[in-house]
Amino acid sequence: SRVVVLNGVNLGLLGDRRPEIYGGTTLKEIEDGLRSEFPDVEWEFFQTDLEGEFVRRIHAAADAAGLILNPGAWTHYSYAIHDALEILSIPRVEVHLSNVYRREEWRRRSVISPAVDAVVAGMGPFGYRVAARYVLFGSRWDLR
Ligand code: DQA
Repeated sequence: SRVVVLNGVNLGLLGDRRPEIYGGTTLKEIEDGLRSEFPDVEWEFFQTDLEGEFVRRIHAAADAAGLILNPGAWTHYSYAIHDALEILSIPRVEVHLSNVYRREEWRRRSVISPAVDAVVAGMGPFGYRVAARYVLFGSRWDLR
């Protein structure tokens, strides 16, 4: 099955960017980790700093088995991403490397969360692996 993993603004800099908060693992390492843990999945990885491009990739995920996304700072204010997610009916998981609840006040609000099935925050790269298990095996327990 095809699973789409979208990382948004500033996440291409993972590994170098504030490692005390986001860790030293690069996005490439996270993606390679998913590929080797779930070799039968047809992974589609994409990172962009352009919001419109991110939204288009959400549209294009409509027929995938699942969508895992970390929208970075867009999480906190992008109604466009919220609305794009609402169009989909596939399992969707929002992932944050850091525990956004223990940081600045403005990071506590996600405008994306009401349009996804599950949220993971504070587990670092492991959050993507948990999200993968959910979309592949766990999403049918379903408390929408
Ligand atoms: C983040 C948290 C956001 O608040 C921040 O803007 C990011 C990364 C995370 O993965 O912890 O860019 O989404």
